[in-house]
Amino acid sequence: MLYLIDTANLEAIKKCCEYYPVAGVTTNPTIVSKENTDFKKLLYSIREIIGADKMLHVQTTAMEAGEILNEAIALKNVVGDNFYLKIPITKEGIKATAMCKDKGFGVTMTAIFTQQQALIAANAGADFVAPYINRLDNIVSDGVHVVEEIVNMFNMYDIKTKILAASFKNVEQVHKVAMTGAGAVTVNPDIFDMLIYHPLTYYAIDDFCKDWETVYGDKLVADLLK
Ligand code: E4P
Repeated sequence: MLYLIDTANLEAIKKCCEYYPVAGVTTNPTIVSKENTDFKKLLYSIREIIGADKMLHVQTTAMEAGEILNEAIALKNVVGDNFYLKIPITKEGIKATAMCKDKGFGVTMTAIFTQQQALIAANAGADFVAPYINRLDNIVSDGVHVVEEIVNMFNMYDIKTKILAASFKNVEQVHKVAMTGAGAVTVNPDIFDMLIYHPLTYYAIDDFCKDWETVYGDKLVADLLK
């Protein structure tokens, strides 16, 4: 399963890419607005940090299919390879998805809240669908269950569209989505840290250090192998 970072904050992207096996970055207009900076420069900087091989998903703000395609062309010029245009699932968005795919652009259909939205997005040719887990959970609609059914439908109909689950607020949601077989999640940097946190890990490391010190003092493994 792939992990992407759901932020446009350059420091956070740098840190996550330094430490974690990150497959790419996702943004949306809210996430970008938080940075309150030159949009074009921000995209260049994100690409510079993550390198050419990682995915960069950037959302359109246009509502009409032709305008969405124009934004895809403009964004592609800035973002380069491994670019996916995030298009919210509307009628115009579905039309735009087919147009973008015709031109060879990657498309992630976003703001997915139902199984049928995902199926139609897939039939329109989307490379990814992005169901919103926490926003579904907040209206007692079981985000994980929605993803589970999308996974089953895609398997049942041999659909190649991938699932990029989004909108997470805790580790439990990420883990349960992982267990559905969804191929990818995008999480904010804090969740990355929480995914690897367990107090017993730190107790174990403390014990290892104490036991070692009783025999070898402050010498490190490398010191003893010289
Ligand atoms: C990412 O693709 C989505 O836009 C994002 O995860 C939504 O997250 P939120 O529900 O925390 O705003």
